[in-house]
Amino acid sequence: MPASLPEFAAKPIVAPVPWVPRWRTLLGSVAFTRDPIGRLNNILTEYGDTVGVHLGGIRPGMVTRDPALVQHILQKNHRRYLKSDLTHGLIRYLGRGLLTNEGADWLRQRRLIQPGFHRQRLAGLTRLMQTAAAEWTTELTARTTDGAAIVDTHEAMTRVAFRIVARATFSASLSEAEGERLAAILTEIQAFYVRTIRQPYLRPWFRARGTYRRNDLLSQELRELVRGYIRQRRQHPPATPAEAPDDLLQMLLDTRYEDTGEPMQEEQLLDEVNILLVAGHETSANALSWLFYLLAQNPAVADKVRAEMEAVLAGRTPEFNDLPQLPYSLQVVQEALRLYPPAWILDRVALEDDEFQGQRIPKGTLFSLYLYGVHHHPALWPDAEVFRPERFAPGAVPAPPPYGYLPFGGGPRLCVGSHFALTEIQLVLLETLRYFSVEPAQESPPVLMPLVTLRPQGELLLRFRRL
Ligand code: HEM
Repeated sequence: MPASLPEFAAKPIVAPVPWVPRWRTLLGSVAFTRDPIGRLNNILTEYGDTVGVHLGGIRPGMVTRDPALVQHILQKNHRRYLKSDLTHGLIRYLGRGLLTNEGADWLRQRRLIQPGFHRQRLAGLTRLMQTAAAEWTTELTARTTDGAAIVDTHEAMTRVAFRIVARATFSASLSEAEGERLAAILTEIQAFYVRTIRQPYLRPWFRARGTYRRNDLLSQELRELVRGYIRQRRQHPPATPAEAPDDLLQMLLDTRYEDTGEPMQEEQLLDEVNILLVAGHETSANALSWLFYLLAQNPAVADKVRAEMEAVLAGRTPEFNDLPQLPYSLQVVQEALRLYPPAWILDRVALEDDEFQGQRIPKGTLFSLYLYGVHHHPALWPDAEVFRPERFAPGAVPAPPPYGYLPFGGGPRLCVGSHFALTEIQLVLLETLRYFSVEPAQESPPVLMPLVTLRPQGELLLRFRRL
């Protein structure tokens, strides 16, 4: 039986919840850095769905895969929780946009921006998603020899997803070279940020070597690039509404606050654009990478997607309005997001004292909401490790409980880009399977690399064979 509160815990966090003895966390800290998912799974299997741990052997916090507690924090009692410094630390580099903002400011921005992402509005962005998907299959065709190409799919999907979100934001204002520079800056900043969190003991070293300064400079370069596009658009406004580009930047420029009727200030606009580029690029790239990996392992699923597509589209290019007629392809995407949720863990901190199922949660308690653990929970998902898209068919049993499936989070801070993401992933999937089959091309399975998002470590080699 796991011990309950050990005597050295500074204070109870959620009273009868078991704690991993601190010496175990300290001893296991290297293993944890190497394989956080494997370690967390072992701990939760041994101790129960909610457990107290000292992160890095130092910081007390709760990790949970209990859907009821996740729902409590994200939805039912969300007012008592904020994101923690783990997310807020990004403000230094990316600014205070929807993802990093809090409180009344966040709500005001969310109300302003959300309508731009409504499903129907996305119809206008579908064409550019389709174009990016077609560019990818054209590139793939150019790379084939003897009808097949082995591709680092994570690298390829990162490019596709970045093109989509950057063009959805800026339309044609962005050249290919500028897009690549933006993507490179964002990748470098994020990789550095994750190191400062995972290896806090390296911070003095980073400071001494000027790495903080380098990343501050990168962040300034990013802001100046984005500022350039905003100013360009402001200086050359469309002559008529019909000529206005149908992109997210125009939406952010045109929108007005309900209370004042004023547009967004330039600095705020910059923050929001940065956050959209970050939040909307790596997550989708990882989702697409894992999706193709799963299809390479499960060719029968790919055949079924193709059969559905042929029955509905008879060889034509899929359009936005076709997507609801292709439910199986959506189920495939949903199941990939279950097995490999790009946002694998969310952080929250209690703003004031709270209670959950009669247990006290003192102010200041740090929570790691372990979405990967929820999605793989054996009590919620029969054969949890098996890729089975039919789980998401209408009426499939057992249906997961509320908050048993939440790749896009939940409550008021639900991902604002969820429809955008599902649409682009479905379109890239369909366009690829129209022309190619996918096969494994490396012997060992990819290693999970959970950074800010869940990505494969190193290359993800897959063979795409022209049909
Ligand atoms: C498969 C792709 C995606 C996944 C799995 C994903 C997941 C998530 C999750 C879990 C959250 C909530 C974070 C939290 O509560 O702490 C979130 C928030 C957010 N996402 Fe996504 N996301 C994806 C794609 C996108 C795209 C394409 C965009 C924009 C184009 C986007 C923009 C945002 C923004 C702005 C927020 C902050 C919302 C707020 O707090 O009001 N995401 N995303």
